[in-house]
Amino acid sequence: MLEKIKETANFIKNIINEIPDFAIVLGSGLGQLKNEVEPIHVLKYADIPNFPQTTVVGHGGELIFGTLEGKKVLMMSGRFHYYEGHPIQTVVFPFRVFHLLGIKNLIVSNACGGVNPNFKVADVMIINDHINMMPEHPLRGKNLDELGPRFVDMSEPYNKKMIEVAKNVALDLGIKVHEGCYVALQGPTFETPAEYGMIKAIGGDAVGMSTVPEVIVAKHQGMDCFGISIITDVGGPDIAYTVSHEEVLEAANKAMPNVIKIVKGLVKNYNG
Ligand code: HPA
Repeated sequence: MLEKIKETANFIKNIINEIPDFAIVLGSGLGQLKNEVEPIHVLKYADIPNFPQTTVVGHGGELIFGTLEGKKVLMMSGRFHYYEGHPIQTVVFPFRVFHLLGIKNLIVSNACGGVNPNFKVADVMIINDHINMMPEHPLRGKNLDELGPRFVDMSEPYNKKMIEVAKNVALDLGIKVHEGCYVALQGPTFETPAEYGMIKAIGGDAVGMSTVPEVIVAKHQGMDCFGISIITDVGGPDIAYTVSHEEVLEAANKAMPNVIKIVKGLVKNYNG
C-alpha cells in the first residue's frame, strides 16, 4: 500500500512541482468552487496511477491544481464514499497521497441531515467535532509508521484557528453559521426517526455518510482539518419528514454560494 501511495504522490509531484497550501474536497455543497479556481493542471483520476475511480457514470473525477485567492490549492472533484462499495482504504487513499505531497491543510465539505432543533434546511454548519459510527476504521491493521503513529491524538479533529477564521469571514459577510458535531454513518439509507433520535441522544448535531474517514487519516498524518456542512434536511425522533436525493441537492445548491464565500475567505486569510 505504501509503495502505491508513494508512486501516486511522485507522479503528481512531478507534474505540479509545488506544494499546495490546501487540499479541498468538493462535496455536494462545494462543487461550483471548481469554477472559481484558476487551473494550472487538471488530472483525470483515470490518468493517475493507482488512483481510485468513481462509480458515478459520466463523472470521472479529477484533481485540479490551481490558484484560489492567491493560494495554491489541490481540489478533489469527485470523492469516494464507503456506501458505494469502495473498501475503506480506497476511500482514504487520496488523503495519504495529499500528505506525501507535503500538504498541511485539508478542507472538506458535505451535505448532511440536521438533528439540532435550531437547524433549518439550507443552513450552514462548521464542523467542530465528529463521532465515527462507520463500521470500519481506516487505521485498523498494521500501522504505516512512516505516515503517522499507531495511536492518534484526536483532541482537536477540526483546527480551532481555521474555525475562528471561517467564523470571522462569515460574520463579516453577514452569513449565519452554526457550529456542531457531525456523526458519520455508512448509509446509503437516510436515517429512520429512531436513528435521528439516536444521533441527537449521543451528542450529534448533524449526520452524514462521508468526511470522517478522510479526517481521521489526515489527522494520523498530522494535517490540520476544516469541515463545513450544508444541512439539507432535518429529522428527529418526533419528526417523520421525508427526504429525497433531489431535495438534498436542491438545499445544497441553495446554500452553496455561502459555503463557497466562506471557504474562499478561509483560504485567503488562513496562513497556518
Ligand atoms: N442523512 C440525512 N440527511 C442527509 C444525509 C444523510 O446522510 N446526507 C445528506 N442529507
